[in-house]
Amino acid sequence: MRRCFELARKGLGMTLANPIVGAVIVYKDRIIGEGYHHEFGGPHAEVNAIRSVKDPSLLSQSTLYCNLEPCSHHGKTPPCSMLIQQKNLKRVVVSNLDPFPSVNGKGIKHMLDAGIEVETACLEEEGAHINRRFLHYINYRRPYVILKWAQTADGYIDLERELGDQEGPRWISDEVSRTLVHKWRSEESAIMVGTNTILSDNPSLNVRRWSGDNPVRITLDRNGRLPESAQILDGKQETIVFTGVQQNYAGKTHTVHADPSYEMVDVMEELFDRRIVSVFVEGGARLHSSFLESGLWDEARVFTGKMLFTQGVKAPEIDEKPDESLKIGDTKLDVYRNKMTDLHGS
Ligand SMILES: NC(=O)c1ccc[n+]([C@@H]2O[C@H](COP(=O)([O-])OP(=O)(O)OC[C@H]3O[C@@H](n4cnc5c(N)ncnc54)[C@H](OP(=O)(O)O)[C@@H]3O)[C@@H](O)[C@H]2O)c1
Repeated sequence: MRRCFELARKGLGMTLANPIVGAVIVYKDRIIGEGYHHEFGGPHAEVNAIRSVKDPSLLSQSTLYCNLEPCSHHGKTPPCSMLIQQKNLKRVVVSNLDPFPSVNGKGIKHMLDAGIEVETACLEEEGAHINRRFLHYINYRRPYVILKWAQTADGYIDLERELGDQEGPRWISDEVSRTLVHKWRSEESAIMVGTNTILSDNPSLNVRRWSGDNPVRITLDRNGRLPESAQILDGKQETIVFTGVQQNYAGKTHTVHADPSYEMVDVMEELFDRRIVSVFVEGGARLHSSFLESGLWDEARVFTGKMLFTQGVKAPEIDEKPDESLKIGDTKLDVYRNKMTDLHGS
């Protein structure tokens, strides 16, 4: 099953809004086939694993391991539980059930009815962690939210600057951490920043230091303060602007009406409807605080550099110990998980 997880991870960022899935076929303790779900709309992991087996006559005495319940419905591809039955597999071992309404146990039932031995909940917690974006999206009907910021050793995310001072951000984290952030961007459906961050830093919010698709850019500009020259409004990348002001942007920029009474829960509902499975929030402090106060966050990744600012924009605070701490170059990375939204409470 851990090999399934490894394979599944290869699809991270490519399969949205689908889950990431890996499959391994074992005959007499030897792996004879494996595959994963490469991209949204493409063949599922089970199909790729079955296709990779050189001698199909062995399938009837083999076990298929798969980190997610095989599907039972005709979506963009035919049902995998049907293929498993047709190929006469002997046994199937699954980590997580698929809560997607048109599967939700029906894949397991189909295989049991066909006389296939089925085992579920194998390394279930690890499987749920790997597919946390998809599982949260389906179970909570909102995107999985990851907050990220970099703070100085004395707890500031920036110096106090005039909005639009053209100086650009003062980097707190090092080169390695900044590259890692681009990798993270490539793994999520969308990236969100607050209006002040755009006015201060004019970020382009794309994937440059890593390969992968650009996420959808999102900003909350209730009062229409963004200038047309902002890079986020260049129309080159899918972008959603929540705004209370009538705006007509060019290219791939779309607006969603958001009057001052609009709350984070409304933003999440809109993003769910737009099939945004995960949101990577890159600040600033007020936007992070809104997520923290509303409880609508799942994970926070906080870089702490060695630099001291003495005064400036205060970093948000999470009043608990990090679940994980790592050293990345010269920077410390603390990862927090929201215990209230963690599907397994771990
Ligand atoms: N070190 C880091 O990791 C990092 C990362 C990003 C930014 N920064 C720095 O952070 C500073 C900006 O942070 P900031 O706290 O002043 O502002 P911010 O969080 O970037 O933007 C806040 C603004 O966004 C708009 N907004 C709309 N809906 C909101 C909601 N539900 N919750 C929060 N904001 C909402 C509001 O403007 P309207 O009311 O007009 O809509 C609000 O004033 C800059 O100096 C930037 O360089 C640092």
